[in-house]
Amino acid sequence: MGNTSAESSLEVLLNASQIAARIRELGEEISGDYLGRTPHLVGVLKGAWIFMADLIRHLSLEVTVDFLGIESYASGTTSSGEVKITKDLDVSIVGRDVLVVEDILDTGRTYHYLRGVLSAHQPESLKLVTLLDKTGRRAVPVKADYVGFQIPDVFVVGYGLDYNQQFRRLPDVRCLRHIACV
Ligand code: IMP
Ligand code: MG
Repeated sequence: MGNTSAESSLEVLLNASQIAARIRELGEEISGDYLGRTPHLVGVLKGAWIFMADLIRHLSLEVTVDFLGIESYASGTTSSGEVKITKDLDVSIVGRDVLVVEDILDTGRTYHYLRGVLSAHQPESLKLVTLLDKTGRRAVPVKADYVGFQIPDVFVVGYGLDYNQQFRRLPDVRCLRHIACV
């Protein structure tokens, strides 16, 4: 199977080797910061699972993992901040060093909501690592502790990220040109 015509019309913003190199760096930084501790990684489904799978293989730490399934209601390509939890955490995060793993921070509304939910469970610490950050689009005050790449205000797909559930399997991050590509 080759590329579909829809895929080949997408412009590559970050290729697979750039992503891999940056994740290696993030892994080293996070391993240093959590030295001697066992962080509990909480991946936000579905977008973040490929990133999380690559990231944990660059951590030189014991870690535990869990997943949170969410659906954020979107109007077009912008999230509304209304979030439905479709899969709750399996294990308690009380007293844990929680590191949330996200695919992308856009308006920040989704993480703003999640942060409220998670901090109510009294983790020892709560941090966020996001592969992508559209800083210029923030609507609420949310900052990631670790950022893979800052990207401009473009809608991206691939490496786990979707547009209407499409394109998650692409090994690189590409731009949906017909919406907004720089
Ligand atoms: P926020 O609530 O606006 O920060 O949006 C966060 C969520 O919206 C992400 O977890 C993604 O699921 C989705 N999202 C935002 N921007 C993009 C994008 O460029 N491509 C794919 N999904 C996106
Ligand atoms: Mg999504």
